[in-house]
Amino acid sequence: MKNFVTKKGNKYWPSQEMKSIAWIKDDKIYKKDKIKFWEEQAKNLQWIKPWKTAYEEKLPYFKWFKEGKINASVNCIDRHVNKNKTAIVWIPEPHNQKKVEISYKELQEEVSRFANLLKKLKVKKGDVVTIYLPMIPEVIFAMLACARIGAIHSIVFSAFSEEALKSRIIDGKSKVLITANGHYRKGEEVYLLDKVKIAIEGTKLKKVIVIPRLAKRIPSDFINYKKEIRKESSECKPEVMNSEDPLFILYTSGTTGKPKGIIHDTGGYLTQAYTTSKFNFNLHENDLMWCTADVGWITGHTYSCYGPLSLGNTLLIYEGSPDYPNFGRWWEIIQDNKVNVFYTAPTAIRLFMKYGDKYVKKYNLDSLEILGTVGEPIDEDAWNWYFKNIGKSKLPIIDTWWQTETGANVINALPGVGPFIPSYAGKAFPGINMAIVNDKGNKVKTGKTGHLVQLSPFAPGMLRGVFRNEKRYKETYWSKFKDKYDTSDGAFMDKDGNIRLVGRVDDVIKVAGHRLSTAEMENALDDDEYVNEAAVVPVPDKIRGEVPVAFVVLEKGKPSDELKKNLIQDVRKRIGPIATLKEIYFVEDLPKTRSGKIMRRILKGLLSGKEIKNVSTLVNPDSVKKIKENLA
Ligand code: WT7
Repeated sequence: MKNFVTKKGNKYWPSQEMKSIAWIKDDKIYKKDKIKFWEEQAKNLQWIKPWKTAYEEKLPYFKWFKEGKINASVNCIDRHVNKNKTAIVWIPEPHNQKKVEISYKELQEEVSRFANLLKKLKVKKGDVVTIYLPMIPEVIFAMLACARIGAIHSIVFSAFSEEALKSRIIDGKSKVLITANGHYRKGEEVYLLDKVKIAIEGTKLKKVIVIPRLAKRIPSDFINYKKEIRKESSECKPEVMNSEDPLFILYTSGTTGKPKGIIHDTGGYLTQAYTTSKFNFNLHENDLMWCTADVGWITGHTYSCYGPLSLGNTLLIYEGSPDYPNFGRWWEIIQDNKVNVFYTAPTAIRLFMKYGDKYVKKYNLDSLEILGTVGEPIDEDAWNWYFKNIGKSKLPIIDTWWQTETGANVINALPGVGPFIPSYAGKAFPGINMAIVNDKGNKVKTGKTGHLVQLSPFAPGMLRGVFRNEKRYKETYWSKFKDKYDTSDGAFMDKDGNIRLVGRVDDVIKVAGHRLSTAEMENALDDDEYVNEAAVVPVPDKIRGEVPVAFVVLEKGKPSDELKKNLIQDVRKRIGPIATLKEIYFVEDLPKTRSGKIMRRILKGLLSGKEIKNVSTLVNPDSVKKIKENLA
């Protein structure tokens, strides 16, 4: 293994060996004019027509690369075809199934066929196509096929429930769904079509393309991908897109009960996906990158598809679970495929910490060069475990802070610049302006915690709106500070500009790095006939970071274990297994302000055994005392 870091005090810095191969070796790049920086980067992409205006801002809207014409699939496929290279390495979960390597040439053919099939089904530029697929190569074919013809993909995480899928199909007004009959997970066959049938019932969606991943029959009212795809030509002319045309939408949770469709554009998003993949992971020509995120999340969109492919790199995707057949699986994959860049989440690292490093020791991880983490703050213990056991104390850990809304990475330490400080994400990426402000929007002093915001010029990868909900776009991101983008995260900065994140300041919780809305879970509970009112709050969890618990006021009936079970099921059905409530407390009343707002902060405090002071703003201060007795 290469030796890429040296330690000074409690900080790690890039070694000479690291610097010698790093794209960025010093901090000059941070001082560059921000718009010029992104223009220079965008020139690395292939444009059909160059832009005239690099950046235009009329808040809360802004545009990048106006008048520019581009197609994302061309950038991710066609321009790499002559390199004779592998684009995707796919590892199926069952050990007796062979890995599949797909060259850029094959990718071009598969994507073109898929794009032609979509066209045959009357999908047009600007239409939304919903994708509900596990981690199989066809998910990437599907994304790029949409991009090829200018359709907007909307991926729904395949472990989400039928109701979650349905609501996203309806909100997206989508008429075509791409799914699979199932996949393998923890050694089992997971069948998807029962969920699909329920999801599309009563919607306008009539066309369902099914990838036969399992040897199971595909109902005749669905389109069998394998049969149909062979009829299509392997050539498809790419659609000419405006830089600002949407590439995809991706639903994410916010503070209300309804997920929002975050819109990302084509040219700006691709520029930031490309640039951050290259600089953060120091990707060179022959590097193999493995980002373990499912494409159902933004991390998978950007770093398991658009980023590495736009660079012409090889990416690896794995179908299954990290513990199948045991906790050595991931390390085996790294060893056997000589993975160079490995990007995962703190929740996975904590899982490996718990189940010991005995598995890690069995494998040779010498091919690794850069490690990455994303999704939630990484505590020092997890950081150190990752650093020592996977990086053998030789590799930089790139802790990347970003969001579904930012499209690509925003805060991190660059591999050739550093420093790498356990639990600090790092500095704002070159070309991006971040600040920490108080409630009034004024910058806070060094070391003081405040709201993390982005300042103008807003990065090219940023969201361009909320699908069919302009009001929500304005209210969520632009109402608190007007001229600053509100991340809803709390953070503080050290004297050198390194940022440490302290978590969300809104009612979003992060379960195993995945974003869940307390309101969405509460709505699911409220809809149960036995429930009068509910409040959901997070409690700390050793592996998953946070998990939700609920306080429930009953409408009728009596508290029982059976009712508890049913209510837990209600929420899982609405959202999916990640929204499994750890506990339900039946209470008589919930603490509320005079305006009727449930004080979740107080409930959180009660659960952590904090002394609750200042209940005078509540209409029902007694409720706190009673809940306390109930919890004791
Ligand atoms: C929220 C966004 C970005 C892809 C995955 C999550 C938290 C994300 C970090 C990090 C501390 C982080 C923030 C953010 N978060 N990365 N490196 N350190 N917190 O995307 O589901 O949209 O969630 O995840 O709270 O707001 P997301």
